[in-house]
Amino acid sequence: MSEDTDHHDETARREAATDGGSAAGADGTTLDPWGSSTVEDYRKLFEEFGIEAFDEVLPEVPDPHYLMRRGVIFGHREYRDVLRAMRDGDPAAVLSGFMPTGDPHIGHKLVFDEIIWHQRQGLDAYALIADLEAHSARGLSWAEIDEHARDYLLSLLALGFDPEEGELYRQSTNRPLQDLAFELGSKANFSELQAIYGFDGETDVSHMQSVVTQMADILYPQLDGPKPTVIPVGPDQDPHVRLARDLAARMRYFKVTEAYASFETDDAERALLADAYDALATEGDDPVRCEDAAAHVAAAFDAPALVESLENAGMEPLRPRVRFLDRNATPEAFEALIEAVDGEKRVYEGHVDAFDLDHDAAAHLAREVEVDHGGYGFYAPSSLYHRFMTGLTGGKMSSSVPASHISLLDDPEEGYEKVTSATTGGRETAELQRELGGEADECPVYELYAYLLAADDDEFATRVYDECVGGERLCGDCKEQAATLMREFLADHQEKREEAAERLDSLDIDLDLDSSRR
Ligand code: TRP
Ligand code: SF4
Repeated sequence: MSEDTDHHDETARREAATDGGSAAGADGTTLDPWGSSTVEDYRKLFEEFGIEAFDEVLPEVPDPHYLMRRGVIFGHREYRDVLRAMRDGDPAAVLSGFMPTGDPHIGHKLVFDEIIWHQRQGLDAYALIADLEAHSARGLSWAEIDEHARDYLLSLLALGFDPEEGELYRQSTNRPLQDLAFELGSKANFSELQAIYGFDGETDVSHMQSVVTQMADILYPQLDGPKPTVIPVGPDQDPHVRLARDLAARMRYFKVTEAYASFETDDAERALLADAYDALATEGDDPVRCEDAAAHVAAAFDAPALVESLENAGMEPLRPRVRFLDRNATPEAFEALIEAVDGEKRVYEGHVDAFDLDHDAAAHLAREVEVDHGGYGFYAPSSLYHRFMTGLTGGKMSSSVPASHISLLDDPEEGYEKVTSATTGGRETAELQRELGGEADECPVYELYAYLLAADDDEFATRVYDECVGGERLCGDCKEQAATLMREFLADHQEKREEAAERLDSLDIDLDLDSSRR
């Protein structure tokens, strides 16, 4: 990566508070993997879709990447699983995929950097070319796909991906991937794809196949053993992540839950049982009977079905336990699980209750038995979400509008020009700018600094921000500096791409498809 440190004078150390603010277009919060996603308000994603704020895990990240420190990576799902594995030196993986629809550009660089950072933290790293998706969802010809596929991989290598340690593949030539996709397809049906992606009777089958292929991509690192896996993507890919998390769970042999009595409940009912248990349990040996809990629940809540189950259970004691529900277990695996549960246990039709195990120990055991009996034992995949970069011309950055983005293949001079022609968050006149300060939070040029040009130098990024909003920085000079840095970055990157070409050719990956494809 090219970093120009010459420009950075070492003034006062400041905390990096260079969050680019709400860098987004104006068409609301929709998450459509094939639409033109811009996200108006990232906070909504937390509430509406249950994406968690990245801030909360940041303190637990060892030596966080600058995209993490600057809030460019703003959200995640269950990233703690990956952090835990990283900390404990347990297996873990990172994977992302790229549709080869055009040149790789500076937006893709964010994801390349995320993959590479995780690889350097010791994770198994995977990057794939989503050629089936590009063909079916975007209608690209195989020839176009072949041409672009190579460009993505060259940039990834040039930025530091280690292909000896990691794996690169394209979807269409990866047989184990296709087999997994087929398997996962047996756990998803059309109504579900309709609900998630808005598919209808006109949606072609290949497009649907590209969805199960992406599900297989996401779980692919776990084919050689279950491991926490992080998928760095834009938030538009979250529907895919959610479906993959569901499918991972549906493939499991056992589901481990907490329970209080022999009969099954849903989560809400379980909470009521917990309440009843806490209210009625006493120090002594007297068990809490289901019929007493029935009276408690009937008095305190409106849950007639639960009250009925409790009444039917009558004298059965209410006791906390972990439950292993049989989902897809083979009979042998179910028997083996029963054997493997230590301490007091009860075996029922379709589930086993264990009284001396905590939830974590039970989850661990369930995975172990599953893997020993031919199952995958998938972890639900984790994800990281980054902000979309604003287009240089304002609005969204779009591959189809060349002036709006900078391709990693742009001639360095052209990159320079695009930056000098970019819109800014500056004021009408220099005078006003000095008086009011610029609007760095609304400025695509500031974003270039924060997302790319300042690289690891937080002090530099913060200084640009502070000087801008403080009115000390004027847009002309600021763009000139950014444009110069961009030119240097592109020249350096392209040199590294050339060096990478040889390495890529010596790798055993099939970039060209069989010429029989049309
Ligand atoms: N659907 C992704 C895109 O539109 C590409 C992709 C395919 C992908 N498989 C993946 C991304 C697996 C992350 C993980 O860019
Ligand atoms: Fe953007 Fe720089 Fe102008 Fe500030 S001074 S608005 S960061 S171009």
